[in-house]
Amino acid sequence: MSSNHRLYAYLNDEFLPLESTYLHVSDLSIQRGYGIFDFFKVQGGHLMFVDDYLNRFFSSALLMGLPVPYSEQELKDILVRLVQMNGIPDAGVKMILTGGYSENGYDPAAPNLILLQQPLTLPSEAQVATGIKIITHEYVRELAAAKTINYLVGIKLIQQVKAKGAHDVLYHHNGLVTEFPRSNFFLVRQDDTVVTPAREVLKGITRKNVLELAAKKYQVVEADVTLEDIATAKEAFMTSTTKRILPIIEIDGKPVGKGAPGAVTLDLLQDLVELENRQVV
Ligand SMILES: Cc1ncc(COP(=O)(O)O)c(C=O)c1O
Repeated sequence: MSSNHRLYAYLNDEFLPLESTYLHVSDLSIQRGYGIFDFFKVQGGHLMFVDDYLNRFFSSALLMGLPVPYSEQELKDILVRLVQMNGIPDAGVKMILTGGYSENGYDPAAPNLILLQQPLTLPSEAQVATGIKIITHEYVRELAAAKTINYLVGIKLIQQVKAKGAHDVLYHHNGLVTEFPRSNFFLVRQDDTVVTPAREVLKGITRKNVLELAAKKYQVVEADVTLEDIATAKEAFMTSTTKRILPIIEIDGKPVGKGAPGAVTLDLLQDLVELENRQVV
């Protein structure tokens, strides 16, 4: 994409140049951090698993009591048009619904709908081959089943993650592991069973795809996962729309399994890439 490529955004019924897309300061997302969003993936100009992301968008809005002022088909049409206008083959589209322009800075008003598109770079082969190091932190996301705009703790921990030479932070609470600020967590037991936490997590679309792919070849369990389970695991990995599958090789300074990306992890990544490629044709 050239530097003078004009990006368009969408705000309440209008496609606008990104540089002139503004929300008023009275919006509840600014005043109180009240809003939800979803993040759609565009690969080769094609919107991937679009119904899954739209379903989650509606369910997050419902969980937060935010009315969605458009039908599913209308949102799909807006997405397709924005992707055509921007012409970025590999991208992410953020669809945000906020609490609206509140009169008193607390009571919700008519929601504002915003769509933003940005180029997307997936992890390189070298990053996958190296794997990532993570730390842990005691915390559980509020209203974990909803994709809200609240990333306060994750963002606050960025400096701590960097200071420890790590790439991300895994939340756990009352001994149970949940998820990362922006990704889901999986481990592989010594017998190759693939396990992911069942409770207090956002149901990631990549998590869903990986669970379905894994079930074709391995035993798969959605269950409680403890920090001790990770200590005895053969492999671990994270999943998300922007990362696909990234192997985890170290947790709080200790190696996971052999301390290198594992065979099941890499096998599932290959299956996921193939599934994505099948969506594009
Ligand atoms: C809290 C949380 N968990 C998990 C995920 C991964 O979900 P997905 O695979 O749909 O990107 C995200 C994505 O942003 C997230 O915010």
